[in-house]
Amino acid sequence: MIYLDCAATALQKPPEVAQAMVAALRQCASPGRGSYPAADRAAEIAFQCREALARLLGADSPEQVVFTSNATHALNIAIRSLVRRGDRVVISGYEHNAVTRTLVSIPEVSIQVAVGGLFDQAGDLEVFARQIDENTKAVICTHVSNVFGYILPIDGIASLCRERGVPLIVDASQSAGILPVSAKRWGAAYVGLPGHKGLCGPQGTGVLICGDGQTPAPLLTGGTGSESLNQQMPGFLPDRLEAGTHNMPGIAGLLAGVQFINREGTDAIACHERRLSDRLAGKLSLTPGVRVIRPEKPELRTGVLSFVAEGQDCEVLGEALAARGICLRAGLHCAPLAHCTAGTLETGTLRASISPFTSSAEVDALAAAVSAGPEK
Ligand code: ALA
Repeated sequence: MIYLDCAATALQKPPEVAQAMVAALRQCASPGRGSYPAADRAAEIAFQCREALARLLGADSPEQVVFTSNATHALNIAIRSLVRRGDRVVISGYEHNAVTRTLVSIPEVSIQVAVGGLFDQAGDLEVFARQIDENTKAVICTHVSNVFGYILPIDGIASLCRERGVPLIVDASQSAGILPVSAKRWGAAYVGLPGHKGLCGPQGTGVLICGDGQTPAPLLTGGTGSESLNQQMPGFLPDRLEAGTHNMPGIAGLLAGVQFINREGTDAIACHERRLSDRLAGKLSLTPGVRVIRPEKPELRTGVLSFVAEGQDCEVLGEALAARGICLRAGLHCAPLAHCTAGTLETGTLRASISPFTSSAEVDALAAAVSAGPEK
């Protein structure tokens, strides 16, 4: 099998991730729920994981790192904490349904989409600057498009938000573990991300970084092992947002994933992924009728790459490739807004996404299979 769907989830992981999960299943009780060794072990692993994430993702303290079940969960908390009925928000033209469906579910929200041209950082920034005003209650921006791998001008957007005093929510789903992410440097109110993509952790893990001074609204209420007499959720983090029993095998696996990323280094990972996506784009472009849709400027690209093949339905081609053991995603990738921006809403795209475990031979095999065309 050739797995090229890491933007959906990182199927291939360092072996330490599964080892840490099995050890946690056997040895970890609930953190903060007892003073015996199995509960202490769980508390220690959860704390180490928060510390490692705080360092990697630029949180001021481990307490600002909240465990969620995925990025959607994290973004729901962030959005529902800041956006109320009738509010005006500004979002990028590449947002995922985790953002757009959540906004649409809040009555009468006015959504301004800031797009300045396809994969045009300067143009995007200009439109954000025009649209963010004193009535804007939040700006929400993905760091990297999950469909096209385009890196958005997040530093510039963050500085606009700081200057104008507007809270910023960053979706780091496709950048955490690959590009520099820093909630502190951005001055972001919230940064949400999955544990199971670039961080190489298990599914069922996600992270919300809460910026300084935020008082997030809990989505879930219940026991936290703290302030048990208080019938409101605790005011302090992370307890305020972590009701119920923790996913300890997930957290232990995520810690092992983050340790792997730290050993490899995000720069080296980004460089490997870009090199292979450039190689793949070069080979795909040699096949007549195949159009790769990605930024012209190399520095705006990542290991996520979309393409279409003229005259071929992308879902059908995706199934044909799967039958040959090549796994990628076809369709809209839960981000119809990004396809509106790129003009691919009617066709969708085939998306290949590369991980630290992808080899040149694997991307070459995909290009060769596309070039061979549908099997007769
Ligand atoms: N949002 C994930 C993707 O892009 C699941 O595939």
